[in-house]
Amino acid sequence: MVQQSRHELEDDKFAALVQAATEARERAYAPYSGFKVGAALRGESGRIYKGCNVENASYGLTSCAERNAVFAAVQDGERRIVAAAVVTETNAPTPPCGACRQVLLEFAGTGEMDRDMDVVLATLDGARRLTRLSTLLPDSFASFDVPGD
Ligand code: THU
Repeated sequence: MVQQSRHELEDDKFAALVQAATEARERAYAPYSGFKVGAALRGESGRIYKGCNVENASYGLTSCAERNAVFAAVQDGERRIVAAAVVTETNAPTPPCGACRQVLLEFAGTGEMDRDMDVVLATLDGARRLTRLSTLLPDSFASFDVPGD
């Protein structure tokens, strides 16, 4: 069954990002799990960055699609990511792992008001789930406020 997004206009807003994540997924290197993941991020500049999962024979050195996309954005000079898309070939959209949520948070903005990110989760056959990073990672660790500061 295809999950509907909140609004058709929001679908349009994220169409390019989902398309980029779908393209990134095709480049995934996942010979061990067989599970290909594509991610795409929109930086504050408006530019889009792609990432795919890159597995390793050691298993533990595998790097997720979302984190690879973050690293591509940061090395291009982005310091704020406004939206993220993740595409998988699953029955329901796949939310990012906990480690990727924390790494995305690092670039979700600095102020109380702007510290968030749209996250659109999509499947190859068109299911969509639109959420926010604050929903996926509530009560998060973002900074340390020690007495005397
Ligand atoms: N994977 C991602 O790329 N992103 C996630 O958020 C979850 C998992 C990858 C890692 C591994 O290559 C495969 O999916 C199975 O865990």
